[in-house]
Parts: sequence; C-alpha cells; structure tokens
Amino acid sequence: MAGLLAVILCHVVPWSANRFDDRIHRQRQWIAAWSGEVLGKRTLPSTLSCMPAQDPLTIAVAAIRAGHLVGMPTETVYGLAANALDATAVLRVFSAKGRPTFDPLIVHVADAAQAWTVAKPSPRAERLAAALWPGPLTLVLPRRENVPDVVTSGLETVGVRCPAHPLALALIRAAGVPLAAPSANLFGRISPTTAAHVREQLGDAVAVVLDGGPCRVGIESTVLLPDPAPLILRPGGVTRERLEEILGEPVAVADRVARAALLPQQAPGMLPSHYAPVKPLRLRHAGEAWPDDPATGVLAFTGCDLPSSLRQIEVLSRHGDLAEAAAGLFAALRRLDASDVTSLVAELLPDHGLGLGINDRLRRAAGLG
Ligand code: TXA
Ligand code: MG
Repeated sequence: MAGLLAVILCHVVPWSANRFDDRIHRQRQWIAAWSGEVLGKRTLPSTLSCMPAQDPLTIAVAAIRAGHLVGMPTETVYGLAANALDATAVLRVFSAKGRPTFDPLIVHVADAAQAWTVAKPSPRAERLAAALWPGPLTLVLPRRENVPDVVTSGLETVGVRCPAHPLALALIRAAGVPLAAPSANLFGRISPTTAAHVREQLGDAVAVVLDGGPCRVGIESTVLLPDPAPLILRPGGVTRERLEEILGEPVAVADRVARAALLPQQAPGMLPSHYAPVKPLRLRHAGEAWPDDPATGVLAFTGCDLPSSLRQIEVLSRHGDLAEAAAGLFAALRRLDASDVTSLVAELLPDHGLGLGINDRLRRAAGLG
C-alpha cells in the first residue's frame, strides 16, 4: 500500500516549474490524506519498538532500513533522518515535522564519492568538497535519476552534504544509503542542538534519537549553489570568506529575489517565519537603546552595555567570539522562550564571518527573513 502510494506520488505529481501553486495544493491534499492513512498516530512499527536491548546505532540502522526516522546528531544541528532513496520514508519526515513538501531536503552522505551517486559534481563542487567535507557546507547540484522527487520538491537540483559528526557518518555508512534530513524541529520552530531538544518536539515520530552531545557549530550548514557562479542561498556554518579563499573568486549572497527565482514555491510570504520562538521577538541594531523592561528577555552578543533593570539575559559570547555565539544561539533562544518574560529582544551581531548566518537566523526568528 505504502509502496504503491509512493509510486503514485513520484509519477503522477506534475513537477512543472510554472504550475507550482497547483502542484503544492495537490501535494498538500495528498500528504494530508496519506499521513492520516498510513502513519496513523505516528506510532512506531512493533518490530522496532519491541527490539531487544541493543545499542542505539544498531536500532537506528534497522529503523532507517525499515523506512523509519532517526534523530541524527550533526556538527550543525540535529537532523531528522530517513533513507533518501525511499520516497515513502521521506514523506514520513515531512509528516513528522509538519513541513510543506515544497521545501526540499538536504541529502547527507558519508563522503564525496557517495555524494556523486545522487548529484552531478562540477569542478567547483569537487574543490569545495575536498576542502570542506566533512563539514557544514551543502552543495546544490544537478540531481541524478535515483533521487525521488519528494526529496527535491521536484527541482532538478539536490542539496548534498557530508556532516562532520562521527555518529552521523557511522549511521550513513552502516545504513548503506544516503540520508535525507532536515533539522529535527517542528516546521518553523527553533532548530535542535541537543538530543533532548529532538525528543521534546519529535519524540513520538522517531525510532531513536542518537545522542551525540551538543552540536559544535550550532547553526545550520551554508547552502551554496556553486554554478554558474558561486551563490550562497543560506549563510551558515562555513563563512563566505572561507569559500572565497578556497575558490579564489567572489561568492555572492542571494537576496530574496534571487532565492525566489531558484525556489519559486518558497516565494516571500508563502512560508511562515523560521527558527521562531513562541514569544514575539524584536531585533536590536548596533547603537540602538536596550529595552528597560524586566518583562523583556534579552539575547545579547557580549552583554557589555546592558541596563541593570533587565532580569532575563542570555549572553552569547563575553569575548565577542562568533563561533561561540553560533554554538549557543538556539539553546539560548529556547531558554528565553521558556522563561517567564513576555517578549524578546535580540541583538544583531557584526555582519561578517559566522555573524552572517547568525543574523540570518535572528531575522527569520523575528519574522523578517
Ligand atoms: O546543517 C544543516 O544543513 C541541517 C543538518 C541537519 O544537516 N539541515 C538543515 O536542513 O538545515 P533544513 O531542511 O532545515 O534546511 C535545508 C535548506 C532549506 O532552506 C532548503 O530550501 C535548502 O536547504 N535546499 C535543499 N535543497 C535545495 C535545492 N535543491 N535547491 C535550493 N535549496 C535547497
Ligand atoms: Mg530547518
């Protein structure tokens, strides 16, 4: 039944670029019907939930092979992983997250050789992969035939990345397939940087969460379209400066218009804000006054100039270290959101290096992304 539905989804959905509104509407209807019918209440198959005590990696490999979901640590954030070559398993990812199927997933691989089994490399891609993988860089490349449409949202490109986390690499190798994995949060909410964050939001939907400790980088990978000219689609864990150093040429950062041209189905206004806390969040630009209200929670960079009236403060890096700030960003936002303040103010960081990715997440969290 599930296999048949997957085949129908892959072959009947008309993935023509100029009919995406219609396509999205029909996809939503299908996925709603499909999730209710096949996934029921997101319960795990008894074969997995009754497995005798085994190490988590063994359970995770069995889950992936059976088409189920695994919470996977990476160096950036935790991912919600499924067999990327199994359309039915990938649909479970969308369903568990409540994510629209027009938002494509990243395919995680153990090395560049495996990446080139799902994506067609270019000289720039090969050079970047050799220099930066395993690491927080996703390359958007022409896809190969074996990648199901649901992974790429029907695009002719696929995002591939090799994560720098031993447990992620062990899982991909042992499962023997590339893994499609978005961040393991409910759609639009703050990304998880610990195994506990994943269990809080998606506990029922995953067979197992592999606990790899807190994520070292803390913001998601940089998504780069390397050709015809290098273009950052999402700033993240690899800086623009580092990419320029490796490629020896300028790297542009896509604005909303450029992003909309590549991902027309995600045109501004179609998606809710991302990385969002529940409480209203406002941004503070350099030089602006801090709020002076104890009911406001504050996310500060170095915290050197804060008024003493504030009660709920999260300082990202006393020494002004952007890597430390990125690593603690999402956990700090979560703590503020869970505290008893009524609104949040976040300070924008310097717009270079990792600051570009951090500010991107803050703008989106404030609904301005
Ligand atoms: O660090 C990360 O990238 C994490 C970990 C788990 O690897 N993953 C992650 O996935 O952040 P997700 O699904 O939350 O974000 C993937 C981003 C989305 O903005 C999506 O639009 C973009 O990558 N993307 C994926 N495939 C694409 C494609 N073919 N063309 C353009 N953008 C693509
Ligand atoms: Mg995400």
